[in-house]
Amino acid sequence: MPYNFDTLTDRTDTYSIKADAKGRGKPADALPLWVADMDFKAPPCVLDALEKEVRHGIFGYSDTGREYYETVSRWQRERFGFHTQESWLVKSPGVVVAIHIAVRGLTAPGDAVLIQTPVYHPFHSAVTLTGRKLITNELVNEEDSGRYTIDFADFEAKIAGNQVKLFILCNPHNPVGRVWTKEELTQMGEICLRYGVTVVSDEIHQDFIFEGHRHVVFAGLSKKFSDITITCTAPSKTFNLAGLMLSNIFVSDPALRDAFAREYERAGLSQLGVMGLVACKAAYEGGADWLAQLLTYLKGNMDLIDQWAAAHPDAVRFRRPEGTYLAWLDFRWLGLSTKELDDLVTNKAKVWLSAGTAFGAAGAGFMRLNAASPRSIIEEALRRMSAVI
Ligand SMILES: Cc1ncc(COP(=O)(O)O)c(C=O)c1O
Repeated sequence: MPYNFDTLTDRTDTYSIKADAKGRGKPADALPLWVADMDFKAPPCVLDALEKEVRHGIFGYSDTGREYYETVSRWQRERFGFHTQESWLVKSPGVVVAIHIAVRGLTAPGDAVLIQTPVYHPFHSAVTLTGRKLITNELVNEEDSGRYTIDFADFEAKIAGNQVKLFILCNPHNPVGRVWTKEELTQMGEICLRYGVTVVSDEIHQDFIFEGHRHVVFAGLSKKFSDITITCTAPSKTFNLAGLMLSNIFVSDPALRDAFAREYERAGLSQLGVMGLVACKAAYEGGADWLAQLLTYLKGNMDLIDQWAAAHPDAVRFRRPEGTYLAWLDFRWLGLSTKELDDLVTNKAKVWLSAGTAFGAAGAGFMRLNAASPRSIIEEALRRMSAVI
């Protein structure tokens, strides 16, 4: 069945933070292409399952059984060759919650935690807000291609020099769009093993992989990697369910899992929303075709952004993401300060993007555009930016 991703859905007054320009001090007429949720309705199979649940009418304390695990684990096994066991699964209200819980449960205040910048900002705050020491391994932007790579010498030196306890990996990487290869993941994993570093692997964007690339689950590479890893997955990005607050975390090592799960108890997090559970199962059971068509549509949006950037080489450079629906736009050629760039794009062009500096100092001069919107919106945003750059 063909799905129509061109449909416009008004999100004003629906509690959407993406559409809340007024509440967030942005011009009311700015096109919101910032926070990473999509402007597409969830797949019909999910809406049907949620409607059925609403009609049932009782929303009591809820938990899942074998069937739920089988659905979730099949998705990981069939798409990524990641084989899990039921006991590994820890359900969480979200991946950001899981990252905070991991930092709190697996490290002590003052311990060093490594992230690779520029990166999704809660990676920073999960470390700083919990009184841990933030260590950064800045990704290398290859100037000729705009592709980001890892400085492995720095990665190892930072771990060794700071006695890093935990590494928060982002794969695929938000915002730079890399889908780390087996070789890169192996090299990082070997270093982590050598220095006794636990890995939180955030794989929430794993289903958004463009042609020519393949998502590799870090913990799926070997038992020894699996034993030191907390793997974060979720249906929320994939099927646009972020507001339902549900993610599936896999931890194979019993001691690591106990320490992680105990921290949820300490935080008083014992229940999950039934709508998230229902939506997750329905999405993984019936959403594959919708997702395949969505990926084709997103590729079309990225084509458009690519053509637009190529037409403005003095102002913006763009390297297509290997994964994620996020376009990392390099505006350094304009020679503007962060404030000036934000003013140009937000207030003059009236396009609301995420400032690159939200992902760390390494993001200065960049802006992140969320391309998961109907084509007409992306076209309008590009037109508006063309007029000011
Ligand atoms: C890398 C990454 N992790 C986690 C999240 C959010 O996860 P959750 O909504 O499950 O907390 C996002 C959302 O943008 C993300 O990009």
